[in-house]
Amino acid sequence: MADEIELIYKGVNYKFPLVHGTENETAIDIKTLRAQTGLITLDPGFKNTGSCQSEITFLDGEEGILRYRGYSIEDLANQYSFIEVAHLLIYGDLPTTEQLDKFENDIRDYALVDEDFKIILKSFPKSAHPMGILSSLTSALIAFNPSSVDINSEKDFYEAIIMLLAKFPVLASWTHRKMKGLPLNYPSYELSYTENLAHMMFRMPNKDFKASKTVVSVLNKLLILHADHEQNCSTSTVRMVGSSHAGLFASIASGISALWGPLHGGANQAVIEMLEEIRIDGGDTQKFMAKAKDKNDPFRLMGFGHRVYKNFDPRAKIIKKAADEVLSELGIDDPVLDIAKRLEQEALQDPYFVDRKLYPNVDFYSGIIYRALGIPTEMFTVMFAIGRLPGWIAQWKEMRFNKEPIGRPRQVYTGATHRSP
Ligand code: CMC
Repeated sequence: MADEIELIYKGVNYKFPLVHGTENETAIDIKTLRAQTGLITLDPGFKNTGSCQSEITFLDGEEGILRYRGYSIEDLANQYSFIEVAHLLIYGDLPTTEQLDKFENDIRDYALVDEDFKIILKSFPKSAHPMGILSSLTSALIAFNPSSVDINSEKDFYEAIIMLLAKFPVLASWTHRKMKGLPLNYPSYELSYTENLAHMMFRMPNKDFKASKTVVSVLNKLLILHADHEQNCSTSTVRMVGSSHAGLFASIASGISALWGPLHGGANQAVIEMLEEIRIDGGDTQKFMAKAKDKNDPFRLMGFGHRVYKNFDPRAKIIKKAADEVLSELGIDDPVLDIAKRLEQEALQDPYFVDRKLYPNVDFYSGIIYRALGIPTEMFTVMFAIGRLPGWIAQWKEMRFNKEPIGRPRQVYTGATHRSP
């Protein structure tokens, strides 16, 4: 089989090389297409366009497979801590015991943010959306810390990565405290990364606090499940912004804004709002199924469908099980869980959803868990962002180390041709 593809255009035969991935994916390398033929490709939404070659995450949407650096998401979510998975994503391997100790302790050492962050936080109204606050605070990190990382200095780059991993959950949990009008908590040196997150979010000033094993374990799982997902909208944004050699923190702040949208990370908030709406409306799921199928109605079944998964989202399976476990362990009977299960059953048997291969995605059940933990709906996408952080860092690092060129798509111009004034 020739390792190239032929294109005949205006009677001329052009050849383009094929590029093969390690999991049998093949791409046409069209780097010289325009130079050779004058043509460009057009692919809105990049449905068929690979933006890079990457060694980080593999997903097979047809088979419902997701792996980070070769390890299946099921193994990682059930057996490892979020911080081990962060190390895996960023540095390519699960850490040894010594590496893990150093990584965790370094993160502990950097886990304080400048006290002036409190002044910035204070200036936001309580009604501000936490994703907007988080994006602003992440941008503010640039002002307090070096904005451009010297990626050629191993020490500098390591320090920047540690700084982000350490300070991000502090900023994220402070957005939660701000929303609730509660005093801000500091991280504790004694706690693990996920315990610290729970501690900073939930500790009340007038009570002792120890996060239960159930809470820590389910938070850990959720963070791992969200940790990377190859070239999705926010990750592509992080890589694109970084490709201009903008700093790591600036690129991550842009990724947060991209994640916010309801078609991406914001779907977890939209799902709960939708389930609540159905509950308040009397619980008639069929009525909302009909709305979702009606092309004249903008309503979509939030938490359903995925650009890449056309079988099932493996993360959704793990989360559904975790939701059942956590609700039963916490003794919570949430009526929206029943509505969610009914919707899922109906959609899985409905030709509209079956034909379009629309299955529940990661966000369909995650909101139910966050709600059970007492996290307000507006904070759900912030939780997603905390999970996605190591993936964004790993992808940014790979992009810079691979010396990728600045991202700059072309267009097919369809506006007015030259006009005289
Ligand atoms: N409800 C009803 N119809 C849908 C839905 C849905 N949730 N999702 C897709 N469709 C229909 C769509 O109308 C279209 O129908 P037709 O072929 O008749 O025009 C067909 O299915 C294909 O949809 P698409 O919008 O072309 O597919 P896409 O790959 O561009 O969009 C998606 C993927 C995730 C944006 C979309 O499925 C969606 O809007 N889902 C709801 C939002 C959501 O749950 N997002 C979270 C994604 S997972 C977390 C993450 O990665 O951030």
